Amino acid sequence: MKLVLGLLLGSCSLAHGLTSDSQTIKRDDPGVSSPSYRISPIDGSKIALPTKEQLAWQDKEIGVIIHFEIATYLSVDGCNNIPNLLPNQSLFDPVSLNTDQWVETINSLGAKYATLVAKHNCGFTTWPSEVTFLTRDNETIHYNYTIAQSPVHGKDVVTSFVESAQKGNIGHGFYYSLMWNNFLNVQSGGVITSSWTPGQVNITNSTYNQVVLDQLTELWTQHGNLTEIWFDGGYTETQQVKIQSLLETQQPGAVVFNGCQTNGTCISANPVRWIGTEAGAAPEETWSSGLSNDGGDPQSPYFCPAECDTTLQTGDRWFYGVNQTLRSLEEMKDVYHKTVGRNCVLELDLAPDRSGLVPSNQAARYKELGDFIKTCYGNPIAHKVSRNEKGIYSLTFGKPTSIDRIVLMEDQTNGQVIRSYEVYAKIADSRSSNGGHVPYTFISNGTSVGHKKIDLFNKAISVTGVLVNSTYVDIPKWRSVSVHLCD
Ligand SMILES: *[C@@H]1O[C@H](CO)[C@@H](O)[C@H](O)[C@H]1NC(C)=O
Ligand SMILES: *[C@@H]1O[C@H](CO)[C@@H](O)[C@H](O)[C@H]1NC(C)=O
Ligand SMILES: *[C@@H]1O[C@H](CO)[C@@H](O)[C@H](O)[C@H]1NC(C)=O
Ligand SMILES: *[C@@H]1O[C@H](CO)[C@@H](O)[C@H](O)[C@H]1NC(C)=O
Ligand SMILES: *[C@@H]1O[C@H](CO)[C@@H](O)[C@H](O)[C@H]1NC(C)=O
Ligand SMILES: *[C@@H]1O[C@H](CO)[C@@H](O)[C@H](O)[C@H]1NC(C)=O
Ligand SMILES: *[C@@H]1O[C@H](CO)[C@@H](O)[C@H](O)[C@H]1NC(C)=O
Ligand SMILES: *[C@@H]1O[C@H](CO)[C@@H](O)[C@H](O)[C@H]1NC(C)=O
Ligand SMILES: *[C@@H]1O[C@H](CO)[C@@H](O)[C@H](O)[C@H]1NC(C)=O
Ligand SMILES: *[C@@H]1O[C@H](CO)[C@@H](O)[C@H](O)[C@H]1NC(C)=O
Repeated sequence: MKLVLGLLLGSCSLAHGLTSDSQTIKRDDPGVSSPSYRISPIDGSKIALPTKEQLAWQDKEIGVIIHFEIATYLSVDGCNNIPNLLPNQSLFDPVSLNTDQWVETINSLGAKYATLVAKHNCGFTTWPSEVTFLTRDNETIHYNYTIAQSPVHGKDVVTSFVESAQKGNIGHGFYYSLMWNNFLNVQSGGVITSSWTPGQVNITNSTYNQVVLDQLTELWTQHGNLTEIWFDGGYTETQQVKIQSLLETQQPGAVVFNGCQTNGTCISANPVRWIGTEAGAAPEETWSSGLSNDGGDPQSPYFCPAECDTTLQTGDRWFYGVNQTLRSLEEMKDVYHKTVGRNCVLELDLAPDRSGLVPSNQAARYKELGDFIKTCYGNPIAHKVSRNEKGIYSLTFGKPTSIDRIVLMEDQTNGQVIRSYEVYAKIADSRSSNGGHVPYTFISNGTSVGHKKIDLFNKAISVTGVLVNSTYVDIPKWRSVSVHLCD
């Protein structure tokens, strides 16, 4: 994949808002181009408001991004920055193509949506695009660099993937790169003339922009509601207006990766942002608001939660690599804790091989990770709960209970309001030395909670109670607080 950012050009439409009980929702200016937020009754700061689509997306916690197209058959990881590389269509020959098997793997990981690379930078489409266009020779031709010109002509990976996803009950979405297309000799959003390779077709910039719009129309109108749309590297200023309007009319409910520029120009009401690294680690402090490609900003009026995309293969390899080793289960657990456990949606790469299947070693690793998450986090330790009006949340246990981690979740319906928290516990062993009165001992602390925050303890501790309190810009509603013993 290789993200190339900073080329994002767009314009804004954050027209939405969830009504809160007593407070007025503010916009910086009227119309479609401003963020939705409310004012803190406590300190007057801005509290960014989410759309229901953004919250539903954060709830999914884990998705996958599927890299499978002609670059699967190359030794390099895609056509990125190699303008005269145009792999021959005859290479694309997935003899055992089975998208149901992809979705089985995705389900075993516990991922709730999958975003398919429908066109990457080589320009090859894995659906039989019917788009036609005018060449520089004034000839109208078909977009003749698709699965229909490959040995598996008659098949359609995109449709097959969507059907499998629907059967397997996961959301589906598409990645389509707008800025690069080697087939049409497009680099960084424009047709170049400096390099030339057999098979490429010479067109104008305006023809290219029409091809993009026509292919996005195929993808966005024929496959139902999309969960996520990925703009890797964004779009050009010329493309922006028409793409924004296509989004508004055809896919208003999709969340849009790179949906906002850092300067506040947005093309979707449901933007999500890149965390700024492909390593699979969000900053400890990751807010649901803010537009920069990092941990975000609690004061930003833009609700724009973060997505952490990373690979299962080593070496930042996105397309299937022959003999590419996999990251260990231990490393992937760490990735989970540093993404989902830090308020960032984990989008894990899925790289089917040249036969069209997820290789067995990869399938096994996804399942191991999914099993770990289910076993560790699926069954919280039973406890009694009490809450108070100041947002203090406490758990009590009938007997001394060993725990080694805590999972905090904030209800963000009216925005993310907790600014910091502290976790205290009544340590079971300290009872004797305190004549029955057990004081709270400080266990862990942090800033952002948002959708989810997981704190791992250095070692298991035996406790009879746990208390979490916080600082906030409005009385917080804890969605849940749970403790677990996993190691
Ligand atoms: C293609 O058509 C345009 C407009 O009619 C004309 O200006 C141009 O010279 C033609 N190009 C070729 C290669 O025939
Ligand atoms: C296409 O537009 C780019 C700017 O985006 C420009 O650099 C390039 O020269 C144009 N190409 C053609 C063939 O007009
Ligand atoms: C697509 O068709 C054009 C026009 O016939 C041809 O010049 C070009 O080589 C073809 N490209 C591929 C990749 O087949
Ligand atoms: C692709 O390979 C086929 C079969 O080897 C060949 O006939 C065709 O000319 C090649 N296409 C291009 C654009 O090189
Ligand atoms: C593509 O078309 C442009 C404009 O007609 C021309 O300058 C350029 O040489 C053409 N490139 C090739 C490789 O034919
Ligand atoms: C698709 O989303 C729209 C609103 O964005 C909704 O009205 C429609 O019912 C949805 N369709 C399906 C099949 O879920
Ligand atoms: C953001 O930058 C783009 C160009 O990079 C510009 O077109 C747009 O107007 C800017 N938006 C704002 C809100 O300043
Ligand atoms: C993959 O590993 C096998 C067995 O070690 C070896 O024979 C083969 O050459 C390797 N292929 C590549 C592309 O590295
Ligand atoms: C957490 O506690 C440590 C040790 O008391 C302190 O240095 C740090 O500032 C605290 N962090 C937060 C976010 O409150
Ligand atoms: C949280 O509770 C602890 C223990 O009672 C107390 O020392 C601390 O000041 C409280 N912090 C906040 C932010 O209320």
